[in-house]
Amino acid sequence: MSKLRLRHAAPALLVAVFLLALTACGTEYPNSTFNRHTDFNTSIDALWDRLLFWGTIVFVFVEAALVVTLIKYRKRAGGPEAKQIHGNAALEITWTAIPAVILVLIAVPTVKTIFETQAPAPAGALKVEVIGHQWWWEFHYPELGITTANELYLPVGRTASFELKTKDVLHSFWIPQMGGKRDLITNKSNFMWFTPNADLQSSVWNGFCTEYCGTSHANMKIRLYTVQPDEFASWAAHQAKPAVYPAAEPATPATPATPAIPAARGAQPTPAPVEDVGYMFPTADLPDHVIPKTPTPAGLTYDDALLAQGDPTAGQLGFMIGGCIGCHAINGLPGAVSTIGPDLTHIASRHTIAAGLFPNDGPHLARWIKNARLMKPGILMNTIGRGQYDPLLKITQEAGLDDKQIADVVAYLQKLK
Ligand code: CUA
Repeated sequence: MSKLRLRHAAPALLVAVFLLALTACGTEYPNSTFNRHTDFNTSIDALWDRLLFWGTIVFVFVEAALVVTLIKYRKRAGGPEAKQIHGNAALEITWTAIPAVILVLIAVPTVKTIFETQAPAPAGALKVEVIGHQWWWEFHYPELGITTANELYLPVGRTASFELKTKDVLHSFWIPQMGGKRDLITNKSNFMWFTPNADLQSSVWNGFCTEYCGTSHANMKIRLYTVQPDEFASWAAHQAKPAVYPAAEPATPATPATPAIPAARGAQPTPAPVEDVGYMFPTADLPDHVIPKTPTPAGLTYDDALLAQGDPTAGQLGFMIGGCIGCHAINGLPGAVSTIGPDLTHIASRHTIAAGLFPNDGPHLARWIKNARLMKPGILMNTIGRGQYDPLLKITQEAGLDDKQIADVVAYLQKLK
């Protein structure tokens, strides 16, 4: 009874599995590797198509021969005894020769593609150093004097040549729609290059760490912005500049916070000119797949109303006394030179924080400063919020910044466009 039912269900099941498999070939998925946007993944995909083509022919032929043989020559009651033979030279030569020819058809383009993609990057390529950290990405453009984190800008139509390194354990750099992936190995540089297609619209892509590297491996993401050459030039020119706050005068960290602020504000005779902050990929144009939707931990509360009262001048001081300066560099803030954590020089020009885990806005930034280890397990960043329980050290932070002081630091960081 159940056997009969199974026999009836089998074709339907086969069709369902086939349809399910077909959905994997869709190209509208933002993290699909089947969309070709660079020379690199175009050549790799061409290879994959060729393998699929020959593989399909071999599969269909072999399976058909198998099924026909099984049915036609099955044992029947009272049937004749099978003819006994000893080898067939012609057949054996044929079934050795055909696979050999197919292997040559696969091997030649494979070797050619390996040499193409492993060759040194073409002259004029944009150099980018990629440095993996637990659990974030450092991007350094040595020719442009830019250091940034987690968000990478590349101009379309120009080859980007990556030197891949790691500060700690093994990581792997992968932006599915651009091709890759390649490991970041301790004490060794790996290289990779690709050219975003010149006809690409300015767009944003997801990237990932694809080598298990510890607790927050899954929270080590990349945003790649492929932009037009003039947009890239504008972005790069601004990113290379120091971020000085207040913009008009050099930072004076020794200024006592509270009494000086009204005076300093009152002293400004004319409204400051609109600052040129360079190109930034427009927030309104961000595709949905790059906007982080990670929920914040329920136990981590913060009064968002305080953010409206944030004072950037006090925040700059808080950045220094709160310990931020021990790990983060800000080009333009004297003494902020540490390279332990991400460079924050132009942090306000990024769309995300915490290696793509949260949107870069006041509420998320405040919670992040207050208790980063609660938002991203295992990380190096200290718990800064006064009275917060540090889930890694398993102690309560007795010193640190209160919520108003955190609002000040947020206000300061948001000035660093
Ligand atoms: Cu870095 Cu996984």
